[in-house]
Amino acid sequence: MTLAPNGLDELLLIARDTALAAGALALQRRQEGVSVAATKSAPIDIVTQADRDTEQLIRSLLSDARPDDGFLGEESGGGGGTSGLTWVVDPIDGTVNYLYGIPAWAVSIAVVEGDPDPATWRALAGAVVNPVTQEVYTARAGGGARLGERELQATTGVALDRALVATGFAYSMKSREPQIEVAAEMLRRTRDLRRIGSAALDLCGVADGRLDGFYEWGLHPWDHAAGALIAREAGAAVVGRNGAPGSRELLVAAAPALADQIVTLITALRP
Ligand code: IPD
Repeated sequence: MTLAPNGLDELLLIARDTALAAGALALQRRQEGVSVAATKSAPIDIVTQADRDTEQLIRSLLSDARPDDGFLGEESGGGGGTSGLTWVVDPIDGTVNYLYGIPAWAVSIAVVEGDPDPATWRALAGAVVNPVTQEVYTARAGGGARLGERELQATTGVALDRALVATGFAYSMKSREPQIEVAAEMLRRTRDLRRIGSAALDLCGVADGRLDGFYEWGLHPWDHAAGALIAREAGAAVVGRNGAPGSRELLVAAAPALADQIVTLITALRP
């Protein structure tokens, strides 16, 4: 399917407006007080009622606006769709920050073409909204990335030993062990490491030059669908191992030369 640019603009508006409405609800819930509703893959992998309610709102707004599209969300899973497009949604990326009141969490909404699989999909439009800071990051395929109205440009020409690099860690302790080893080596090889707590905001940070690079493995599609498009549209390479697209196996975002160095280092440490 080839969508005309104005079709992409319309998808982007839907993504942005839905993320703004969802962000307002999540922020209101945060102000009312948040508690853990359930745990998921591990005792520290939590979901709040606000995650669920926010995803429910997003799901219903999207189904009103785009009844033929599919949906894949962190809290309610996937399903439906006849158009070939799927909305990939993280209602609150950075749930632990949300729980603790750390202002680094975001609503992330992307629409992708093809199977909702990062290995093969084509991201068409995406929005990442941090309701606390009121930052609204958007991108559409081929149309550049923006923070509000300002066009974003990832950093270029930064060597690994001068790079500020962000990463994240899995909830499962077993999966965390190799991540700790790689993070220790990254600390030796880079300017410094950041663990912000929201992969979506990490990727937007790369787009905006607040970070030179980001890497993580174990991410779910909804953690990176919108942010990866925003980083790519700001000029960053978003890649996985051996030139594959970024996926659960590995996702690296940085200027192309730096991304290569990060992938090479991780591959050497974790062949
Ligand atoms: C998490 C965040 C975190 C990343 C984890 C993700 P959640 O998403 O993006 O930065 O390190 O891997 O699971 O659970 O807050 O939606």
